[in-house]
Amino acid sequence: MDIRLIAANPAEVETECLVVFALDHATKDSANKDLTKGNQNAGKEAAKPEPRLAIKDGGLDKAIAELIASGEMTGKAFETALLHRPQGLKAKRLLVVGAGKAKSFTHAEVRKAAGSAIRALKPKAIKSCAFLTPDLASGAEDAVRTIVEGALVADFDPDTYRSDRKDQSVKEITVVAPSGADQAKLQNALTQGRVIGESQNFTRELVNEPSNRLTPTMLGDRAKKMCDTVGLKCELMGPDKIKEMKMGAFWSVSQGSDEEPRLIVMRYDPPGAPEKPVLGLVGKGITFDTGGISIKPADGMEKMKYDMAGGAAMIGAMRAIALLKPKVKVIGIVCASENMPSGKAQKPGDVQIAMSGKSIEIINTDAEGRLVLADGLYYARTLGCTHLIDAATLTGACVVALGYANAGVFANNEDAYQHFTSALQRSGEKFWRLPLDQEYLDQIRSNIADIMNTGGRWGGASTAAVFLKEFVDDTPWLHLDIAGTAWMEENKSWIAKGPSGIGVRSLIEFVRSFENGR
Ligand code: BES
Ligand code: MN
Ligand code: ZN
Repeated sequence: MDIRLIAANPAEVETECLVVFALDHATKDSANKDLTKGNQNAGKEAAKPEPRLAIKDGGLDKAIAELIASGEMTGKAFETALLHRPQGLKAKRLLVVGAGKAKSFTHAEVRKAAGSAIRALKPKAIKSCAFLTPDLASGAEDAVRTIVEGALVADFDPDTYRSDRKDQSVKEITVVAPSGADQAKLQNALTQGRVIGESQNFTRELVNEPSNRLTPTMLGDRAKKMCDTVGLKCELMGPDKIKEMKMGAFWSVSQGSDEEPRLIVMRYDPPGAPEKPVLGLVGKGITFDTGGISIKPADGMEKMKYDMAGGAAMIGAMRAIALLKPKVKVIGIVCASENMPSGKAQKPGDVQIAMSGKSIEIINTDAEGRLVLADGLYYARTLGCTHLIDAATLTGACVVALGYANAGVFANNEDAYQHFTSALQRSGEKFWRLPLDQEYLDQIRSNIADIMNTGGRWGGASTAAVFLKEFVDDTPWLHLDIAGTAWMEENKSWIAKGPSGIGVRSLIEFVRSFENGR
């Protein structure tokens, strides 16, 4: 997608389709105003919508006057109305997109509204459009960045292997800057949005691949190719090296598979970065999770191709970091493996020794993510990481707790958690903090070894998290459980059903939050 910035009067923009956002300014107070006019239902019902454009422009207001009068556009989120030959404008079409209540209009709504515009235009084979930058409380740079992020994410469709695939991508978008804004700053915001949106889509491409087309070896090769393109160092290690380094937990998952595992290490070491912090990004890269000997039911097992979404998020985030060049050292680690049953597979009751020396009793071979991460996290510490963050489609229990709306986040350190919440404020992704108390650790004590790899039925997201905590010790650490959010079960107006790319944007912002010793 070609993306450019122009400064122009909205009426003068020549485009296939001009896109503008509309907001509903109705409040409870405006409903009460109706009460004084004798409307008895006022106050009980939602206030009558008061749609207005998210940008002040007399010419545009005139062009949409009839649309607003018709009541077809209320400003409700993701509502769209397409006008042809809008009066007084040079644009061929005007697409008005609802962006919700005026009082809750933030960059999160800008992304979704921009995405809804793209997904409305794609099936109409409209290949280019121009977005008018809305007036946003957090500023024009935020608006430009998030328009671009939202548009790129919306342009992605997962139909890679359909032989009748039509390329409906939007080829070109123009962002129309507000007059008087600092063009250089907006151009920079646009570039950031492009890097972030494209990196999120790169992650989604990887997650979308089925396990026969993305084995651990192939995932390693894709990571290496990306690293070569953007100038990161990348090291790929196979079974011999994994065994030599005594990664007994990681290897125990891989030993049952004919496909070789890969330990993927990507390094970003920019000139001029301080010695510390060194951020370690560790991802679960199970390219297919059958459950192993504790095999999963057939129903829905095909979805376990996305069990590498945490690893793919790290690869996408490393791409963006290499391009955005924050002055902070980052090491990305992906533990890539299949989890298969076979005559060589590990069995329940087996005891494994992790790289850290801790012994683990395997209760359920389907709790494999924590095993590969145990060694991934410990290894990151041996490389000198001072802060750790992992992402994994780790537990069904996290999906039970939070559904599809929020991903889970766990933290052993308040300062690191603060960095993450400030990252969420920029990324617009939704995470909810879950607990890591000592009691959960008691649930995974073993009679034969230091710990077990499962902790019984209750609190499964937290027992998995405290298992990981055993391998990070006191290193400030965050754990992201993205099991419920890495795959969208439904089409949304701003994003296709399928791989979501969750985590990528927050990981990027998390890393950037450490720049300049912040
Ligand atoms: N990859 C799964 C978790 C998962 C579940 C991801 C649903 C996405 C959607 C993980 O490896 C797993 O199998 N976890 C088990 C752990 C249990 C055996 C303690 C689970 O959550 O059932
Ligand atoms: Mn599993
Ligand atoms: Zn798994």
